[in-house]
Amino acid sequence: MKIRILGSAAGGGFPQWNCNCPNCDGYRRGTLRVSKRTQSSITVSANGEDWALINASPDILQQIQSFAPLQPARALRDTGIRAVVLIDAQIDHTTGLYMLRESTRPLDIWCTQPVREDLSIGNPIFRLLDHFCGVRWHELPLDGTKVGIDGLDDLAFQAHALKSKAPPYSPHRQSPQPGDNIGLTITDTRRKRSAFYAPGLAEIEPHVWQAMCDAHCVIVDGTFWTNNEMESLGLAPKRALELGHLPQSGPGGMMEHLARLPAATRKLLIHINNTNPILNEDSAERAQLGARQIEVCHDGLDIEL
Ligand code: MLT
Ligand code: MN
Ligand code: ZN
Repeated sequence: MKIRILGSAAGGGFPQWNCNCPNCDGYRRGTLRVSKRTQSSITVSANGEDWALINASPDILQQIQSFAPLQPARALRDTGIRAVVLIDAQIDHTTGLYMLRESTRPLDIWCTQPVREDLSIGNPIFRLLDHFCGVRWHELPLDGTKVGIDGLDDLAFQAHALKSKAPPYSPHRQSPQPGDNIGLTITDTRRKRSAFYAPGLAEIEPHVWQAMCDAHCVIVDGTFWTNNEMESLGLAPKRALELGHLPQSGPGGMMEHLARLPAATRKLLIHINNTNPILNEDSAERAQLGARQIEVCHDGLDIEL
């Protein structure tokens, strides 16, 4: 199975347009060893030709341009994207759908019922796309069923309901529903290799932990280093956990969990906020990850499983 990290930053990207935090400022001044990053999306394929786009970032056009297999040029109008899978309805994971409106056939979009609801009512992208290419919605079930997707023969997708946050515009922002956010196990059924992907993950419940243990590679929430990161920089009084993201450091943090996974499991952080000190390749925080064999995703990273 091939996984391409199209965008490794959280909402806002890195650097964020209006931000002068130490990372964003250090990037622009060239004083820090940091790479720019686009917003949260990956793409997955078993055969290298037919791809599932997992999340549709606002930066999707740039991401498609930077990865040739997504434009195989077999016809006058063509794409390597066979289907779109959404893990939530957040802006950074769905706005790119607008940019796919020139599609010559309806977009095959896989997501849960609550995400479909948010994208039909709170932020009605699906209804809007009906005026362009149209949407064929397919339900991602939450009962543990592994689903196959037409055109992606050797891949199976399994959704795990998890605790994170529905978007601010969602009627269920403060009353969470199972399926507002999911983690995804993607399996190459022929090679018997799997990855667990969860860019928004506030709590590692037992069933989520099991899914992480079962995967050969985990690509999980790397948004914030500390719970009060934004507050301590004087940016916003929003805590990581309130936003649906488990911080990496501290007791019960993501690093502690990752350290308990089997040594052979490849461990990567994704959806990294522009404030997170792990973006700085020379930071002490980044060294702590390195010492634990935890990788930090960057745009353009290819993972082969
Ligand atoms: C999140 O992951 O918390 C959201 O995508 C934040 C945002 O809307 O940018
Ligand atoms: Mn996000
Ligand atoms: Zn910043």
